[in-house]
Parts: sequence; structure tokens; C-alpha cells
Amino acid sequence: MSLQQKIDSLHSKYDAALKGGGPQRIEKQHQGGKLTARERIAAFLDEASFEEVDALATNPSEGGEKFFGDGVVTGFGRVDGRPVAVYAQDFTVVGGSLSLTHARKITKIMDIAMKVGCPVIGFNDSGGARIQEGVNSLAGYAEIFLRNTMASGVIPQISLIMGPCAGGAVYSPAITDFITMVRNTSYMFVTGPEVIKAVTHEDVTKEELGGASTHGIKSGVCHFTVPSDLAALAHTRELLSFLPSNNLGDAPRKAPLMNMALENPALDEIVPEEASKPYDIRQIIKGVVDDAHFFEVMEAYAQNIVIGFARLDGRSVGIVANQPAHLAGVLDIDSSEKAARFVRCCDCFNIPLIVFEDVPGFLPGVNQEHGGLIKNGAKLLYAFCEATVPKVTVITRKAYGGAYIVMASKHIRADFNFAYPTAEIAVMGADGAANVLYAKEISKASDPVAKRAEIVVDYNEKFANPYVAAGLGYVDEVILPRETRKKLVRALNLLETKRESMPPKKHGNIPL
Ligand code: HXC
Repeated sequence: MSLQQKIDSLHSKYDAALKGGGPQRIEKQHQGGKLTARERIAAFLDEASFEEVDALATNPSEGGEKFFGDGVVTGFGRVDGRPVAVYAQDFTVVGGSLSLTHARKITKIMDIAMKVGCPVIGFNDSGGARIQEGVNSLAGYAEIFLRNTMASGVIPQISLIMGPCAGGAVYSPAITDFITMVRNTSYMFVTGPEVIKAVTHEDVTKEELGGASTHGIKSGVCHFTVPSDLAALAHTRELLSFLPSNNLGDAPRKAPLMNMALENPALDEIVPEEASKPYDIRQIIKGVVDDAHFFEVMEAYAQNIVIGFARLDGRSVGIVANQPAHLAGVLDIDSSEKAARFVRCCDCFNIPLIVFEDVPGFLPGVNQEHGGLIKNGAKLLYAFCEATVPKVTVITRKAYGGAYIVMASKHIRADFNFAYPTAEIAVMGADGAANVLYAKEISKASDPVAKRAEIVVDYNEKFANPYVAAGLGYVDEVILPRETRKKLVRALNLLETKRESMPPKKHGNIPL
């Protein structure tokens, strides 16, 4: 073979790889409202930054049509100039199903990402285990799951679900840090509608069972739902901007805002005078953070707690906030678990935590107790206790009982605890306390209603304020709401060099 023939042969192989499953299958992919694997990668990465590996990998097993790449496109590129590893399953090639070759392409880039310390982003669009590969396909999944676990807390791992993701295949995304699902074109479930029908006789569609809305609202499996492939890609680029490349670095800091005032008088008007009146905690978050921009995580799930990323003076921060506008901001099973995972995510990636607290306590109820409120509430407590990143808490209103302790109180190593003058820090609210402590006194009074009102006023004056805690040093400073940004920025400046660690151990035993 002449040199020219060798070069032509090389070109023809790469041309074949670029064609994936061929024009008809690509057309079908487009008709389904989906981009192809290569289109997704091109739209996701910085322009012309993609370096592909294993484009010519083929499946050595017998039979079937051979495709270069074997149903997944893998390689490295850049997002905002920072390196990332990517893999995109190619549904046009054998339904993006996973063979051992396919799996090993993914594990190869994961291994390199671990060595160099860069995030791994996976675009999932696959019919699951390549049926004709048998146990080799299961081995391939297992090799990915193991690496997902090893990489957890070392490099950010993000899963985009852009088509089917079923069976054991769901467990790779589930181990990663964030899952984004595209509405109407993606689904995730362990067993599909047909199996469910056969086993439990329940009728359910794929969308109802495991579509983006289901996992965004009901199950809490996914962190973000987006309307299209392109939206998913842009959204993930922004998500990466809040994260470091690995656990040894910090998230990139944007230039501090020179023109954003450190004081915001509008904040003084947000917390209502009446303790039982709801307000949207996002108003406070947005009134404090850079550009009023809050990148919310799990927005539609367990809405009594709000979590997400923002920047303060250019620094990436993780925000955890009780939401008085939903169930009065009470902590329950779902909200505790939602916040706990987020706290741990921020802690392993060196992202300071800012807590806005307005919590009446844990949700009473038989369902909550029988559902494991104790162990789930303990997850959040554990997560805040073990977090060693800078932790700054602002009590806007209620901070009652065990929930006061859990929400990054001074007692569990928060660095700075601020409270608004509207804060109420006590074992329980005045009504509850009156019932427990003064029931007899109230019932014996000539006017029980007036007696109760008198006791409530007295209790509120004595206990439902920030000054008892401030007097004991559990609150560092009682601040005006308008000063919040200034106080937080200055606290984070000081805490930039914070050093704190956990005692040496293999790992803790978080109440899972
Ligand atoms: C081999 C597969 C495949 C698979 C799809 N294909 N899934 N080939 N193994 N798992 C092939 C199809 O034969 C077809 O090939 C092409 O991909 C496109 O599939 P279609 O069925 O035409 O597409 P569509 O109608 O969009 O349906 C997509 C689908 C369906 C819903 C994903 O293909 C499907 O149900 N596939 C099987 C899913 C499954 O049971 N997977 C195993 C799950 S168990 P041609 O040549 O016609 O284009 C599992 C265990 C993992 O994954 C355990 C890990 C621990």
C-alpha cells in the first residue's frame, strides 16, 4: 500500500466513525427532537477544543454490524478554558447500548480525568446493556460504577440524561454529583412500564414513571430539568462555573463586582412583622448575592428548603435556606435529605456554605416518623457537622428546637452566625411553650384567653428574640437585613484561609 493509500484509508475510517449509525438513524434522532452525540459534544465544549480518543474502537465480539466508536464518543475538551472529559452515547449506533468496548472507552477517559483532576460529563442516551454481549456488558457497567464511586468527591461528575436510561444503567448517573434531564425526550427507571404491569399490575407511561417532571418534582432523583438538548448543554456549562476542577482546587472566582452596593435597604422590608406570615426566602438570597443571580438546584422538589449556587464578591458559594413560603419552611424527610447531599457536595468541592434560617422545627406526623424522619433529619445534621468549608449562617426569623441546631448553628462549627432583629431563637414557639409550661395556669385563670395572650407576650419578650443567644455568644452579631451582603462578604474574606479538618478515619458512618 502506498503512503497515499494509507492516508486515504485513515481518512475513510475516520469519516465512517463520524457518520455514526448512518444518515437514516441520524434523521430519526433529529425527528425525535434530539441532537446526535457529536452535535452535543460540539455544542457543549469551547469551540474546536474537542480531542477525541478511541474513535476507531470496534467491538471484537462476533456478529452484528461493526461501527467505529461502538456507540459512544469520548474525549477531552474545554469549558470556559478549563479541561473536562466527556462521553456521549450515540443512540444511532445499536441504540447507544453498552458493550464492554463502549464501557472501556468511558472508563479510559474517567481514569485520565482522575489523574489530571478534571470533571467528567456524560451525555446518556442508551438502550442499556447490549443484549447480545451478555455478562460482558454487565461487567462494563460495573467498571463504570466503580470508577464513579472512586471519583466521587475527587472530581465533579455530571450526568445529562438525553434519551433512555433504564435498568442498572441508572446507577451511574445516580452516583454522580448532578443529574440534568431533558423534558419529554428522556426517562430514567430501574424497571420499565411493561415489567411493572406484569409484577404489580400498575399501568403507567414511561413519562409518568420516569420522565423529567417525575424525577424533578416527585422522586428528587434529578437536580435540573431543562426543555431541550441545547438548554441542557448551556445549563451544564454554567453549573461547571460554580465548581472547581477537582477537590484540591477552588471554584474559579469571577472579578468582584465593583458597582454592587454592600448595603441593600430593600432587604429591611422582606421579613414580615407577623411571625406566621410567609415570604419567599429567594427575595433575601437575590438581594444579597452578586447580580441577584441564584442558580437553584432541585427547585421543584421538597420546596420547603431552597438550595443552589451563587456568587458573593465573585466567589462561588452554596446556599441552603429554609423556605417560609412552603410548609412554613419546616424540615421534613425530603428537605433534610435534599439539603444534606448538597451540603456534602459543597464541602467536598471546597465551596463555602451560606445558610439562611427561618425554620419552625421538624414536621410532626405519623408518616414522617414512620418514614424515618429521625435518620433523614440526622443526615442534614451530620452533613453540617462534618463540613469543614467556611460556614456562615443568617437567622432571619425562626430558629426553633433541634432544627436550630441542625441549620449550621454555632454549636456545630459554623464560623459566623448572624441574626436579624426579627430572629426568634428558642426551644419552641410561644404557643407550644404555653401549652407545655402553663396549661394549668391558663385553665385556672378567670379569663383563659387573656391569660394565654399575656403568657405568649411575656414568653416572646423573654425568649423569642436573638438577644439571649447573642448574650451567650451563640450569635456573633445581630445585624440589620440591609447589611447582610457586607457581613457575608467580609466573613468570607476572613475565612478564605480557614483550616479545619476531621479526625483521621477511614470514613464516617453517615445515617443513610
Ligand atoms: C442491543 C439495542 C438495545 C440493547 C436498543 N437496541 N436497545 N441493541 N441491546 N439494549 C437497538 C435496536 O435493536 C435498534 O437497532 C436500535 O438500537 C434502536 O432501537 P429502537 O428500538 O428502534 O429504538 P426506539 O423505538 O427509540 O426504542 C428505544 C428503546 C428500545 C426503548 C431503548 O430499543 C428498548 O426497549 N431497548 C431495550 C432496552 C433494554 O431492555 N435494555 C436492557 C436493560 S437491562 P436497529 O438495528 O434496528 O437500529 C440493563 C441492565 C444493566 O440495561 C445492568 C447494569 C448493572
